[in-house]
Amino acid sequence: MNRFVYLDNNATTKIASHIKEKLQPYLDLQYGNPSSLYWHGVKVRKAVEQARQNCADLINCNPKNLIFTSGGSEGNCSAFNSAINKYPNKKKIITTKVEHSSILEYCELLKKKGYEIVYLDVDINCNLNLKQLEHEIDDNTCLVSIQLANNEVGTILLTEEVIQLINNYKSEFSFDFHIDCVQGLGKIDIDVNKYNADYMSFSGHKIHCPKGIGLLYIKDTKNFTPLISGHQEFNLRGGTENVLGIIAIGESCKYIKDNFSEIQAKLKDLNIYLEQQLANMNITCNCKNVARIPNTTSITFDNITGNQIMFKLETFGICVSTGSACNSENSEPSYVLTSMGVKNPQNTIRVSIDENTTKSQINYFIDTLKTILKGE
Ligand SMILES: Cc1ncc(COP(=O)(O)O)c(C=O)c1O
Repeated sequence: MNRFVYLDNNATTKIASHIKEKLQPYLDLQYGNPSSLYWHGVKVRKAVEQARQNCADLINCNPKNLIFTSGGSEGNCSAFNSAINKYPNKKKIITTKVEHSSILEYCELLKKKGYEIVYLDVDINCNLNLKQLEHEIDDNTCLVSIQLANNEVGTILLTEEVIQLINNYKSEFSFDFHIDCVQGLGKIDIDVNKYNADYMSFSGHKIHCPKGIGLLYIKDTKNFTPLISGHQEFNLRGGTENVLGIIAIGESCKYIKDNFSEIQAKLKDLNIYLEQQLANMNITCNCKNVARIPNTTSITFDNITGNQIMFKLETFGICVSTGSACNSENSEPSYVLTSMGVKNPQNTIRVSIDENTTKSQINYFIDTLKTILKGE
């Protein structure tokens, strides 16, 4: 194996060196518990609150509306748990067929408890049908949960029209609105005011932090029911804080805010370059002409499976995936691509770059792909 080229950044990302540096004191002398009242703890508390401020600045919210979680899955489940407790007499949840498994599996659990779950369809571009959404929202609805962008194909599901429709209906029928923002953070500009959502969940390991840290934005903290009880996080999420993860996500959010246009430009340029090279090989990407996050390219081949390509690429030191990392042990074709109606969904790979991916890495991937497709 001569090179290592990681093109699976929607699964997880490398921990950034500026984040590692920032963590060093907390791996060493600054190990106090942020709840301790003496200086050894108070110093850490200050760092935790600074991290919260940095995260809040990135998404333009008040830090009091932001709690640290263990990741996107916990944020998603916490939002669902709070919404069903807020509206005990409403028994309908509206979500989509292409959500992350943390949502789909929680929905199945709620179905067994008597909830009606509506899984909205998506079209071949992974876009929602506004009419169906409009038709389903009613006064029995306690929660509408829609992902900001899809992890497998990159489509931005929350278009202006979808946001507006949900908010219009929110004033007519009271319900909560949750957005899984995990694949959007750092890739598109996220301002909480644009969405007017009740909850927005984020994950740190998609933005160069260690695994096991996330954020949950909560608009109305007074009516929030915690998933984990305890006094930490303003009584909204119990458990001694994951200080290392918190320092990391604070640093990462600050970095993204300070360098956003540069990160965006790099992702966009490289993604255009990658898709141009694929077009030169007569390969068309899925969801080619719709709004997407600028780092994700999904490709479906005619006569070779995604697994075959993935494992061949691996022998050249290149990592891509065939779907989401969470479902990689499942041999069924991707439920996202199947819901979209993609022909031969099992013949698909996902390439997801980050701002550190280089043109030379893309060229290496393209050359290797050509070799594989020629059957050499
Ligand atoms: C869209 C989406 N939501 C939620 C998650 C789960 O985040 P975490 O791994 O931090 O629990 C993922 C992870 O792949 C994701 O892609």
